Amino acid sequence: MSTRDEETLLIVEADPTIRRSLANYLKTDYRVLGAKTGAEAWATLAKEKVDLILFDDGVADVKGVEFFREARVRYPDVVRILLTESREYSAVMNIIKEAAVYQVIPTPCPPWHLRLLIDRALESRELSRRHRMLSRDLKLSDGAFHNHKAHLTKLIRESYEFDKLVFASDAMLEVCNLARKAATTDLPVLIEGETGTGKELLARAVHGFSERKAFPFLAQNCGALPDELLQSELFGHKRGAFTGAVSDRLGLFVAADGGTVFLDEVSEVSPSFQVSLLRFLQEGEVKPLGSEKTRHTSVRIIAASNRPIKELVAAGAFRKDLYYRLRGFELTIPPLRNRVEDIAVLAEHFTRKYAEFSNRRIAGITVQMMRQLQAYPFPGNVRELETEIRRMVSLASQGEFLSTEHLSDDLAKVVPQDLRQKEMNLIHSSGTLKQKVERLEAQVVTQTLLRFRWNQSKVAKELGLSRVGLANKIRRYKLATTSAGDPPHAQPGRS
Ligand SMILES: Nc1ncnc2c1ncn2[C@@H]1O[C@H](COP(=O)(O)OP(=O)(O)OP(=O)(O)O)[C@@H](O)[C@H]1O
Ligand SMILES: [Mg+2]
Repeated sequence: MSTRDEETLLIVEADPTIRRSLANYLKTDYRVLGAKTGAEAWATLAKEKVDLILFDDGVADVKGVEFFREARVRYPDVVRILLTESREYSAVMNIIKEAAVYQVIPTPCPPWHLRLLIDRALESRELSRRHRMLSRDLKLSDGAFHNHKAHLTKLIRESYEFDKLVFASDAMLEVCNLARKAATTDLPVLIEGETGTGKELLARAVHGFSERKAFPFLAQNCGALPDELLQSELFGHKRGAFTGAVSDRLGLFVAADGGTVFLDEVSEVSPSFQVSLLRFLQEGEVKPLGSEKTRHTSVRIIAASNRPIKELVAAGAFRKDLYYRLRGFELTIPPLRNRVEDIAVLAEHFTRKYAEFSNRRIAGITVQMMRQLQAYPFPGNVRELETEIRRMVSLASQGEFLSTEHLSDDLAKVVPQDLRQKEMNLIHSSGTLKQKVERLEAQVVTQTLLRFRWNQSKVAKELGLSRVGLANKIRRYKLATTSAGDPPHAQPGRS
């Protein structure tokens, strides 16, 4: 859907017939409101968000130039276009100057011409809005170097984009380069990565860069459905194929013909469903439940999993042949904590996105707060960072910086310290080798507890400890929690 649909025009026109026919003509592209007097127009502007005013200079209570002079002050971002019978150059120029009107148009004017003008006027407004934002960013980044007091973060110098993915790390650059290659082929793609790392976004990008982009991208979560339902979602069914099948249903594989089907959480499907999927991948044919006929369909499969499928194959929980079929290309998105370079660009990106969304002006992110974000292990990955920023933007006042006081409890507890500095402190601190190694051990355990939100069985597994062994270390190093489930205070004690 284009953004055009959401733009609103206000037609101020005394003649109801002209007003209605103009509105009819323009409403295919815009939302159109009408007013027959200046007073009515002000009332509408007070209630509605309007993008452009088209004012026909024949309304009873006010002259166009006066109306626009005031509108310029009260609603500076609304584009102003004046329709007038006047053909006199100097009068027209005067109006343009006095009320900063975008265009003065002599009437009568053919509607197609008017529409063209409106399109251009709104495009040019959008361009100047973007220009303003960019200049503001530039100013801010200058400030970062000259104004130490303000503690601004250095705004992103270098970041990359792949479709909607934003990143700065080499690790992501590598993944996206491979994804671009995958996009030019028709092979299945398997995307792996922890929850919230951007698997679906990457899948959409692969589709968007492929020759199938004009055809549908349809997603199916395979984790939540019992076999029969999943079968019918993907392959379709005939009426009466099972209880509740009251009519024929086109499956996703046929509905997406020519396009891409995204199979999310593919690791969760049952062994028998794995067989159906394998057969489909080999033959490209679907047979709806309860039907005798098969039908050919051309779809590209992109599958995703939170769990490494290779390990499931080794454990005998996933078919090896299906795994090999699915991973025509294998893309693994690293967790956010392993690509700390991405945190700043993502935080900036989400700040801009949500500030714009909620029509707020956010000055930037303080250095202190960025350090805090970079020190946090983000178990929920990019999704968690996005939610955090979104919340902070809504809490910040107009024109303010996002600072540590807006952080959620989880994040506020993190004690950021330069990693290198931490190492140096440890090496140069007093004590025997044994004591230093124990301090390091306490730090590793603390960080891992934070990463898994204090879930001790996961932490024990990750660190190769027994539950009891982990509990002993927590006691020994006095790693306190405030309440069950809360992350610990990072207070490694000395034994
Ligand atoms: N590199 C990125 N740039 C911008 N936004 C991102 C990036 N990575 C993830 N996101 C955003 O983070 C959120 C989670 O992404 P997505 O749904 O693709 O993750 P996922 O790996 O599919 O998660 P899950 O495993 O929980 O299904 C989305 O809102 C997405 O837009
Ligand atoms: Mg997902």
